[in-house]
Amino acid sequence: MAPTQPTETTHDLPWWKTAVVYQVYPRSFADADGDGVGDLPGILSKVDHIADLGVDCVWMSPFYESPMRDNGYDVSDHCAIDPVFGTLEDFDALVEALHERGIRLIVDFVPNHVSSDHPWFVEAVSDPDSERRDWFIWADPAPGGGPPFNWTASFTEESAWELDEASGQYYLHLFLPEQPDLNWSNPAVEAAQHDVLRFWLDRGVDGFRIDVINAIGKDPEPRDVPERMEGIAHVVLTHHETAMPLIRRIRALVDPPEVERLVVGEVVTGDLEQQASYCGDGDGVSCTVNFVSIGTKWDRDQWHLLIAGMEDAYADHDATWPSYVLSNHDNPRQRTRYGGSEARARSAAVLLLTVRGTPSLYQGEELGLEDAVIPAGTEVDPGGRDGCRAPIPWTIEAPHGWGEDTWLPFPPDAGARSVEAQRADSTSVLALYKQLLAARKASPALQQGSLELLARTDDVLAYRRIHGDDERIVAVNFGDAPADVTDLAGTVVVASNGLGAGRPFSGRLGPDEAVVLQP
Ligand code: NOJ
Repeated sequence: MAPTQPTETTHDLPWWKTAVVYQVYPRSFADADGDGVGDLPGILSKVDHIADLGVDCVWMSPFYESPMRDNGYDVSDHCAIDPVFGTLEDFDALVEALHERGIRLIVDFVPNHVSSDHPWFVEAVSDPDSERRDWFIWADPAPGGGPPFNWTASFTEESAWELDEASGQYYLHLFLPEQPDLNWSNPAVEAAQHDVLRFWLDRGVDGFRIDVINAIGKDPEPRDVPERMEGIAHVVLTHHETAMPLIRRIRALVDPPEVERLVVGEVVTGDLEQQASYCGDGDGVSCTVNFVSIGTKWDRDQWHLLIAGMEDAYADHDATWPSYVLSNHDNPRQRTRYGGSEARARSAAVLLLTVRGTPSLYQGEELGLEDAVIPAGTEVDPGGRDGCRAPIPWTIEAPHGWGEDTWLPFPPDAGARSVEAQRADSTSVLALYKQLLAARKASPALQQGSLELLARTDDVLAYRRIHGDDERIVAVNFGDAPADVTDLAGTVVVASNGLGAGRPFSGRLGPDEAVVLQP
């Protein structure tokens, strides 16, 4: 494959461009009250684990009051903490503890829909003449009866339109029927959601991860979609031009010139150019959740294509900023997706933490966890995503720092992969992540340098990062056989197997091994 042209980064950067984000899923991180469900005091008790790791920013998934039909992405009160997680005082204590350790906090903001238990929706249904009616999206039945359009919802693959029997009208829900979509073309909805953002900014958050942000601007003329689009209709129909003005106003509110805050947009798309376009002229989202990186297989050519595509799509360094993610609460963990091998999981960590852009780690990725096996009949999530949401094992002994009855089973080999076990082992996956995060922090090239893919004919993906006179070379062997890479020379900064740091590179990579070199 041909090398890409190097791109230079020259300006001073806001904190989030050199940051590594760490996602905390409150239900599964740590359990302070022993009820088997994670909570905010649990997170507070583990902030030193987060600080020791060396990440810069925590993204916390929803902890708001919710009936939990979509595990908190169905919010019934945006400004209250669900009692299962704790109180506002617990939240304030967590913000303080993170800030004391120099770690920022961004929280999930779910603008597209609310819970059907939210007072806004309850009022809209119970009184069709109320002002709240138009806060949601209503349509009359199709001419022959039934749902107005042929769109299907996520999770159920059934109609995205639910009948409100009392009025005879249908309301739109791109996700569960219990998650009615808000009508962002009504300025009162935008104003109310801006108030929610202000509420959390006033409590000290450093930004937001914004759920399905591409869905808030909807085509004002809904219509049926061709048969072949069913099931993904909402994805196709929601990338509408009305979204960007709404997003720009969110960015201006959250990240005004006098402070630096982060706005991560969850943009549901497999198209890198479309993803990057949500950064606008530097006035849209700061960066996006990268749906392409999370879907890329363990394959040299696919990774080459991804990185080359990202460098093209994000070539405008002033307006756009790349981001990469391999695991989150919606997808199988990277180790599980890549076949379960620890060597691969380690090399994937090298990739994630050395490509150009802001990486996002998912809790437990630093332990090399795999997805839990969920016994049939005990599933919790309507979207089949329980496996990656399993509790984090803190101690070697069961129940691994949790109450006896955890809400989901632990991932495989929980004791051996627990934080306690790995902390004591200088060659553990946890130790590797710490080395990588420290190496990244120590290198302007890795944090913000240009990226040049190096031309090769073997199974090795290699790239050079440069900033000023700082330079690093990264090489990852995707093959099943050892690879000779004697053309790449330098001192080993970090090797995926945890060995050899500070020594000259041997010029050989084992199967699924990776190395960061200082030439
Ligand atoms: C994306 C979130 O990450 C996912 O967990 C949720 O189910 C949907 N958006 C709907 O809010």
